[in-house]
Amino acid sequence: MLGDKKVVYSAVQPTGCITLGNFLGAINNWLKMTDDFLSIFAIADLHALTVRQNPAEYRQRAMSFFAQYLACGLDPSKSILYFQSHVPQHAELTWILNCFTYVGETGRMTQFKDKSAKHADNINMGLMDYPVLMASDILLYQADYVPVGVDQKQHLELTRDIAIRFNNLYSPTFTVPEPYIAKQGAKIFSLQQPGQKMSKSDPDPNGYINLIDPPDVIARKFKRAVTDCDGKIIFDEENKPGVSNLLTILATVTDRTVDSVISDFEGKGYAELKQAVADAVIEKLRPIQENYNRLVKDKAYLTEVYKDGAQKAAKIASRTLSKVYRKVGLVEG
Ligand code: TYM
Repeated sequence: MLGDKKVVYSAVQPTGCITLGNFLGAINNWLKMTDDFLSIFAIADLHALTVRQNPAEYRQRAMSFFAQYLACGLDPSKSILYFQSHVPQHAELTWILNCFTYVGETGRMTQFKDKSAKHADNINMGLMDYPVLMASDILLYQADYVPVGVDQKQHLELTRDIAIRFNNLYSPTFTVPEPYIAKQGAKIFSLQQPGQKMSKSDPDPNGYINLIDPPDVIARKFKRAVTDCDGKIIFDEENKPGVSNLLTILATVTDRTVDSVISDFEGKGYAELKQAVADAVIEKLRPIQENYNRLVKDKAYLTEVYKDGAQKAAKIASRTLSKVYRKVGLVEG
């Protein structure tokens, strides 16, 4: 809570590309919240340094992600949009919160375990500290709600634990945030391995839809999507993960329920389902891609927006950080 407004905070880390999973699980829900809340959305560019990045590519990708935020409809007059690295309070609060987080807690995180297995030659401190930086992101802004996909739930629980622990030790300091996980679309699965989440770092590009994939590529990827061989269009995540994923995508993209979508396919087959999903996704992404192609060329505008965002964010963040420094007993500077 800030003033009389509840706060919404979320972020995406600039690895790989923004996928349809990121859009349906997160950004699409952010868009619905900006009228009612003080909304703050970051590009989590410090987080993504936990895996090796090529500096030139990384800089370009981070800018591309920022342009995609705007292209999706995030409006800088309604939300604070910025790069995490431009607001030094994130790293500063992380240090303090590190001293209130146990090694066992971060070591237990599923994402830490997955990434450690994937990057066995680079299990760095940052990888383990990742959820504490995320807690700092959220707690600096006194966020009430954090709209994310299912995969971030565990990090949110740790954020809440850290906030409650600190509040109990030093009197109420942080708002304890609630995850906001939509009923539909909070976990979109890979098109090639429908048992696994659609991931932006999947080495197989056929597994995910990039928000800026051209229409023919989107159509091809859906055409190749893995289903099963019984031919029935029903929702059964356990036994028919591929078909269920396509139904979820179609329903979420068109703002309908899965049940209502299924009724369109009586007597029809998988080819028609795949075509319908592809058409709906292409239609949904068309205006976003048009905006993106225009915005990505306008460096001056993007710079103006992110600088203004960082300034506004820093104002809020520095207030929380000063409070924290005072509470833990640091001498006032
Ligand atoms: P990231 O960058 O992996 O993902 C961004 C958002 O997309 C959601 N998401 C999905 N939703 C549905 N289906 C999928 N297949 C799918 N894949 C990803 C994620 O849940 C997330 O909401 N640590 C975060 C970024 C972060 C953050 C924060 C989030 C940094 N600081 C503060 C919230 C608040 C991450 O890596 O998300």
